[in-house]
Amino acid sequence: MNVEERISSIVSSIRQRTDFMPKLALILGSGLGDFADRIEVVCEVPYQELDHFPVSTVPGHAGKFIFGYLKGIPMVCMKGRVHYYEGYAMEDVVLPTRVMARLGAKILFLTNAAGGLGDGFQAGDLMMITDQIAMFVPNPLIGPNDDRIGVRFPDMTNLYDPKLCNLIRQCAIAHEVTLREGIYAQLTGPSYESPAEIRALKVLGASAVGMSTAVEAIAARHIGMRICGISCISNLAAGLSGKPLSHDEVQAAADAAAKKFSILVEESIIAFDREKEV
Ligand code: HPA
Repeated sequence: MNVEERISSIVSSIRQRTDFMPKLALILGSGLGDFADRIEVVCEVPYQELDHFPVSTVPGHAGKFIFGYLKGIPMVCMKGRVHYYEGYAMEDVVLPTRVMARLGAKILFLTNAAGGLGDGFQAGDLMMITDQIAMFVPNPLIGPNDDRIGVRFPDMTNLYDPKLCNLIRQCAIAHEVTLREGIYAQLTGPSYESPAEIRALKVLGASAVGMSTAVEAIAARHIGMRICGISCISNLAAGLSGKPLSHDEVQAAADAAAKKFSILVEESIIAFDREKEV
């Protein structure tokens, strides 16, 4: 089955359950797991019930699509994403993003937990993603291009939509949430980076590092979505704090920042709607 056939098959399985038309798609990273409590849920579709869909295996990443309204705004959330380090092909990693686009979502709001390496960054900070470095992971568009999805050589200028970024900035000010900004670098994981790799990423201009997001942004741009994203800095990147990194601590720090993270994401989506961006 080619990618287009997989997308169509998954979209039709979802359409057998709901005719809900999301305007915006939100991928929930670590720490935003409870965001769905803010949504008036219309329908939930566990990934495992969808043929041709990759199923996540990471603890804390229970996987399902949640369709519903956030303050009247129709959206779809991915609770649990698919990571390359789990062993999936990049085509599988970005398949859910493409499905959400085909279901009607015009905007993709990406969230994640990430290691921080920007000057002055601290665990618990939020960082709006202004650009990305994806060159250390395979490009998700490698392979035959299907023109029904997008063009062969998509432009990646202004990948993170400047208008949406501005609205997020304004929301952070209005709600007194301190918001950093910077470049997100995706590495494959699952090992955390070495201190030397973090120093190298710093030279390249990265402020946050993680194991997701950038390839989803590429696939989303390819299929024509507008993109924005926020990282929760769950820890200082390797070698910057003097302490070894542990997944449990990363998860705990992401959970601790969850409330302000949720508020900022919710208020930003409301602002997108108010400004007629969705
Ligand atoms: N590195 C990579 N991925 C991460 C990190 C990190 O330090 N923290 C959370 N996700």
